[in-house]
Amino acid sequence: MSKPIEEPQEAPSLRGRGVLVVDDEDGMRELLGIVLENEGYRVFPARDGSSALDLFQREKDHIDLVIQDLKMPGMDGVDLLRKIKETSSELPVIIITAFSTWDSAVEAMRLGAYDYLRKPFDTEVIRSVVNRAIEQRLIFSSSPESLRGELSYKSEIIGNNPLMQGVFEMIKRIAPTDSTVLIQGESGTGKELAARAIHYRSYRRNKVFLSANCSAFTESLLESELFGHIRGAFTGAIENKQGLFQAAHQGTLFLDEVADMSLTTQVKILRVLEERKVSPVGSTRAEPIDVRIIAATNKDIEAEVKEGSFREDLYYRLNVIPLTLPPLRDRKDDIPLLAGYFLAKYSRQMRKCVTNLSAQARSALLEYDWPGNVRELENIIQRHVALAGGACIETIQIQRHAAPAAIKLASPLADELRIPDAGIELEDLLENFEKAHILEALKKTNGNLTNAAKLLGMSYRSIRYRVKKLGIKEAIRA
Ligand SMILES: Nc1ncnc2c1ncn2[C@@H]1O[C@H](COP(=O)(O)OP(=O)(O)OP(=O)(O)O)[C@@H](O)[C@H]1O
Ligand SMILES: [Mg+2]
Repeated sequence: MSKPIEEPQEAPSLRGRGVLVVDDEDGMRELLGIVLENEGYRVFPARDGSSALDLFQREKDHIDLVIQDLKMPGMDGVDLLRKIKETSSELPVIIITAFSTWDSAVEAMRLGAYDYLRKPFDTEVIRSVVNRAIEQRLIFSSSPESLRGELSYKSEIIGNNPLMQGVFEMIKRIAPTDSTVLIQGESGTGKELAARAIHYRSYRRNKVFLSANCSAFTESLLESELFGHIRGAFTGAIENKQGLFQAAHQGTLFLDEVADMSLTTQVKILRVLEERKVSPVGSTRAEPIDVRIIAATNKDIEAEVKEGSFREDLYYRLNVIPLTLPPLRDRKDDIPLLAGYFLAKYSRQMRKCVTNLSAQARSALLEYDWPGNVRELENIIQRHVALAGGACIETIQIQRHAAPAAIKLASPLADELRIPDAGIELEDLLENFEKAHILEALKKTNGNLTNAAKLLGMSYRSIRYRVKKLGIKEAIRA
């Protein structure tokens, strides 16, 4: 049974919850005090680490969240965080920091901070991060240990369709096993959400979940990101850097877009997985690792194996447990439920009360085939909540492909960026923009892929992937 769209989820009451605010700048403490008190929170201010710690010891039972600076006179912010986490490991701590303390912010995340925000920040952002952190804490602390994992993902991954029920069942079964999981599914089907769900149901849930996007880096950067490097390993390596395999110690490492790694990197990953040891770039010392690997791809990885662009041995090592997420068009009966969930989510975020969809809007959502899956649905609802004047979204028009005139606007060369009141489909615009440039480059190079790649400043691998993704193979010279 789907929940009716008219009934958004009830949010737990946040009023009266306590927030410890630690900052040596008077102005910052006052600002946070005003924002949080307006939100109904009880604020406990402290101007340095040691008075914060005293206050925390006294009022522990009334504090549901900590917001703290990193750079303070006396006790350092990282020490404060460490001490707080020693007594209350589940208490969410949000770090606010200036750019200069960026490295310590990363260190803070490793120590279990909930999030970090860079100064200066938007008060709207702090409000939403604080609300979300406290809401999650309330859900967690009001449920018995055995239920925690279940709630933390069930409250996020939505789906009543039997295909999704199968996915939930599978997540429940595989989470405690510590096995490597390969998640497959089209873009926007919820692969990362599923990976988090597995992590939060596993015994590693109190340790970190780190994510590496294997397509976002060049080969050498990806390797240094994953394995770390030692000082002097290459130009620019001015100090030792810990890689994600080690940073995720005792937690979970999510290797996203795993099919996009080069063959060289694939060999190295394979070795790490086999030996359970990692050597930072430039070092010969292998250090033991203890991480669970969850990998994901939106490509047909079996086809890549057949083609020879993905190593078969690595494929088998990753695909110990396969999990496939169905595209949204195969589970259209979940659309009302998802739409209701996103209406509630964005109404709350934008402080609006949009709870209903007109008959036209509902059928528009049901008739469309959602190539961008849940992400596309979420984006459309978000945009319409932003534009809605009343409690109901009257019309939804979904454009599969943006008009050429709009493409021009997305160009970085456009003098002026304008977004029409009806909104745009940025994903589609970008795709068209990308397609137009690749086609133009191919035209200029008589369909030569290598030269076109050079012209566009990308690797051969990357252009080949894009040509395939965009379905413009015919533009390549045979
Ligand atoms: N079943 C679901 N219930 C609620 N939200 C979902 C669901 N599936 C996806 N989403 C939302 O859709 C968006 C995309 O999900 P996610 O990033 O997990 O997809 P993905 O499969 O990793 O996509 P890509 O391949 O493009 O990286 C996220 O904002 C996520 O919260
Ligand atoms: Mg993803």
